[in-house]
Amino acid sequence: MSSGSKKRETFSSGIAVFFAALGSAVGLGNIWKFPYLTGIFGGGAFLLVYILCVIFVGIPVMLAEFFIGRNTRSNVIGAFKKLAPGTMWKHVGTMGVIAAYLIMFFYSCVAGWVYCYLFKSIRGDFVGITLESAKVQFTQTIIGPLTPILWQSIVMVAVGSILIMGVQKGIERVTKTLMPVLFLLIIICDIRALTLPGAFDGVKFLFNVDFSKLTAVAILTALGLSFFKLSLGMGTMVTYSSYFTKDNNLFRTAFSVAFSDTLVSILAGLAIFPTVFAFGMQPGAGPGLLFMTIPLVFSKIPMGNYLLIAFFFLSSIAATTAMLSLVEVLVAYYTEEFGISRKAASIVNSTIIVIIGSTAALSVDANSLLGSIKFFGKGFFDWYDYISSNILLPIGGFFIAIFVGYIMNRKAVLDEFSNNFLKLKFATEIYLFVLKTITPILLIIIFLNSIGIINF
Ligand code: PHE
Repeated sequence: MSSGSKKRETFSSGIAVFFAALGSAVGLGNIWKFPYLTGIFGGGAFLLVYILCVIFVGIPVMLAEFFIGRNTRSNVIGAFKKLAPGTMWKHVGTMGVIAAYLIMFFYSCVAGWVYCYLFKSIRGDFVGITLESAKVQFTQTIIGPLTPILWQSIVMVAVGSILIMGVQKGIERVTKTLMPVLFLLIIICDIRALTLPGAFDGVKFLFNVDFSKLTAVAILTALGLSFFKLSLGMGTMVTYSSYFTKDNNLFRTAFSVAFSDTLVSILAGLAIFPTVFAFGMQPGAGPGLLFMTIPLVFSKIPMGNYLLIAFFFLSSIAATTAMLSLVEVLVAYYTEEFGISRKAASIVNSTIIVIIGSTAALSVDANSLLGSIKFFGKGFFDWYDYISSNILLPIGGFFIAIFVGYIMNRKAVLDEFSNNFLKLKFATEIYLFVLKTITPILLIIIFLNSIGIINF
């Protein structure tokens, strides 16, 4: 069945478009990757570079994806087939589909831990915990083997069920309801964190401008992060924009999503670090920070358990809405290219993700069931992350930029972006210049560095 034979759903309004795209961008990346990396790579200086990366790489690639999606109203592979029939370009779409699976394999596992922690905080498991018991709780959650797989399955049942409901009744309704809740919860956490005695050290850690820490590695990290953060390089935004309304101002959507996503990251940092510093702890890396330090320090604050519930609830929202966009890439592809129903595509893909994703869940720790299986020093979890984030996303982003910048008909691009307004035509000209020059050059640099061909 061809993509056009059934009436295709769209989001119902500009606000719906904004919240859906923001729901994709805001995810686990904001909650622990961004604050932590900003802290270790020089605070304000890193933030500045990150913002430049968002402007010169992130937003241009996002706009290019918007062009491909809204112009074709197709899934990521179908879109390339329509715009460049009979060529190899469709394989940029194929890479996107593969990346969606790989990211989901490990992302659903971490999301499972977040759901589990929400449950534990509601049950009051963190009341009066110590560093030791925080560690025990965390290892029990991640090693399992039953616990992580159970929670990963619950996550996929949630994601699959929302997707079955469709674009408007599922994705739109959930993101429009939950994204404002996420904002509210994060602000509550911020107010509490910032009013603790000694909180200012945490603020300093995040914003202190230290150019000496701004190494080449830091700059490249900022570039890579902007990519993962804004869900770019694999067709998530192609798929979502295929549901955008025709009159949507794509520039405004891209800028407001990028701005709001960065704001959420900063707000997350302002909830986490002041609390950590107020209790004289060190901000540890990645999972340790989210799953041990936070329960520990939050449980010491008066009414902290409610704060923990709020924190893990907002993290669950962030993870879930990001996963909706990842799995929608697959659902749109299977329904449109193979003609299977939305329900079947959602169920089959969620099941595949739980089955293969369990290899990620079971390989996280050295003591996990598959913890000793390593290929070239990395286990399943790390490979899924490495291949998708460091290889497929930057290559995908590069080709998407080249495709829209050089292969697409200039007039078609101008028409799609301008919505027939002269002012927007001018903006599109500037945009095309950036997309053809600065964006691909920066992307080549990140990619060569991330696979280790050039080292700074
Ligand atoms: N942007 C999401 C986050 O920060 C991750 C993501 C990557 C989502 C790629 C979709 C596609 O957590």
